[in-house]
Amino acid sequence: MLELIYYKNHIKREVDMCGIVGYVGEKSALDILLEGLTNLEYRGYDSAGIAVNVDGKVELYKAEGKLQNLKDLTSEQREHIIRSKIGIGHIRWATHGAPTTINAHPHSCNCGRVAVVHNGIIENYKELRAKLEKEGCVFRSQTDTETVAHLVAKKYAETKDLTEAVRLATMEIEGAYALAVIHQDVKNTIVATRRNAPLLVGIGEGEFYIASDVPAIIQYTKTAMYLDDNQIVTLTPKTMKLIDINNNELPQKIETLPWEPVALSKMGYKHFMLKEIHEQPDVVRNVLGGKLRTIDENIILNEVTLNKDSLKHLGRIQIVACGTSLHAAMVGKYIIEELCGIAVDVEPSSEYIYRTTVGDEKTLVIGVSQSGETADTITAVRQAKARGSHILIITNRPDSTMAREAGSLVPVNAGIEVSVAATKSYMAQVISFYLLAIYIAEIKQSASKDELQKIKRELILLPQKLEKVLSHKEDVQSCARKFSNSKDFIFIARGINFPTALEGALKLKEISYINATGYTAGELKHGPIAMLDESMPVLAILMKGKVYDKILSNAEEARARNARMIALTNSEDSKLNELFESIIRIPDVDETLSPVLAIVPLQLLAYYIAEFLGKDVDQPRNLAKSVTVE
Ligand code: G6P
Repeated sequence: MLELIYYKNHIKREVDMCGIVGYVGEKSALDILLEGLTNLEYRGYDSAGIAVNVDGKVELYKAEGKLQNLKDLTSEQREHIIRSKIGIGHIRWATHGAPTTINAHPHSCNCGRVAVVHNGIIENYKELRAKLEKEGCVFRSQTDTETVAHLVAKKYAETKDLTEAVRLATMEIEGAYALAVIHQDVKNTIVATRRNAPLLVGIGEGEFYIASDVPAIIQYTKTAMYLDDNQIVTLTPKTMKLIDINNNELPQKIETLPWEPVALSKMGYKHFMLKEIHEQPDVVRNVLGGKLRTIDENIILNEVTLNKDSLKHLGRIQIVACGTSLHAAMVGKYIIEELCGIAVDVEPSSEYIYRTTVGDEKTLVIGVSQSGETADTITAVRQAKARGSHILIITNRPDSTMAREAGSLVPVNAGIEVSVAATKSYMAQVISFYLLAIYIAEIKQSASKDELQKIKRELILLPQKLEKVLSHKEDVQSCARKFSNSKDFIFIARGINFPTALEGALKLKEISYINATGYTAGELKHGPIAMLDESMPVLAILMKGKVYDKILSNAEEARARNARMIALTNSEDSKLNELFESIIRIPDVDETLSPVLAIVPLQLLAYYIAEFLGKDVDQPRNLAKSVTVE
């Protein structure tokens, strides 16, 4: 199905985003394709499809809805389909309109001999379609992708060479794509190419895999080659040929993937989200490892290539990000401003790119992204780069498109995150901001040694404290049980925990579909307070420190309007028992570091509420983990 989105020039464009896989070798392709798609389901789950070649004939199997529907469909004809040792597959996420089987990939041409899967946008598809229709092509779907299938079929008819057909086709198409193509007349061959959409080739013995992302292939091979833009790869069971768009043969940069297949297992947890929440103490250890050694030593961030003199004289910092990464960026703003005395603006990438933003060589622009593939953030950092700003990328995917745009790359080492709702990657991003802020403060000498040592000491203690939070989940569980039927939820906080309130609300919205909003506690009385009554839960993030008493007063104001009060606190104050119906306690922690501990009970609260409500925790409706369209 087509998705409608607005581009810079405000023309509606129809796009497609999703994940693709492929296999050619000596094994049956079916299970490899389905398994690969299962591991790419985080990229979308509106429809799925595969194309195989059984006894010399290309066959398509497509189903709308979750991947399970495709699995059911193919299991009916399993004995037949498993004879194919080649195949391509696709999983789809729609942003607009109902996804249907007819619009599911793979797409084919008039004669049905070509099959194409695509992730991206063919921007000139309308013009191409009109031209192809005039030439006799009959379109079955409304997708942009089908134009590629017809175009490749036409070029193949002219050249009798599939690689050449794909090459010539890509010279006519505009936009972003990762494409994989098979043709009935070209036995055991997949041709794949990309432009501004991720694609890698997995290399086995007598077999090759292709995928939009590592999880689809890591259980089969760790040897891989990432394609660069405009490169075209031709794969047969025993050969791999790489060319550029001008038909020059290219050397192959083969690498070992830094991932383990175990990352894709639930390790006994019911959901990936729960597993990933529990991984957070180790994630913090990983992020700190090698960078924060002792409180007496300076932070080591070799990844920051901006020289010390430029760092000392930075005029400002702009941070761009989306979703959960945006909330991590907001925590970053508080810490950097506090420790480094540099003005920091945080903005959703999707806003940053459509207005006049001011920046120059004295502006450091930080892009934060779990996936490194979020289209809005990629565009934002490219715009900033064009203005001469140094680009620092904080990402969980050092192999991503965004990482390749980076002047400085700070990998966050959270491991592959499978659940659509981000948890451990947020944790890793937030910790990276603490390290970055201390690193800059040490260079600028903008904070006292004592203050920095205090924060470093707390950072070192965080993993143990997080373990404590995770081993005392009863308060959160009982709170979840009590409030799981609420229609709305309000989270209030001040200062450095305002982003925690936003992130807590986002987690709840994402996986339980409860209307949850985070407010700065002081703003409550300027409007939102009108919504309060005995049916409204208000969760106050009440951390000891500068704003504790202020939030307590705001909570009292809410209680006076009969709201159902919940406290998330590190205070033992017994007075809280009178004011709050439920109290979730976390270990004592310095206010500056409190967002790290405070977010975990909120992730768990969202998880348990969604569980009670029977929601699909790891694959919430309408969402995709990585949004590769603007
Ligand atoms: C999607 C996901 C969110 C994520 C956001 C930004 O909307 O559903 O969980 O926070 O993208 O993704 P990024 O990979 O750039 O952090």
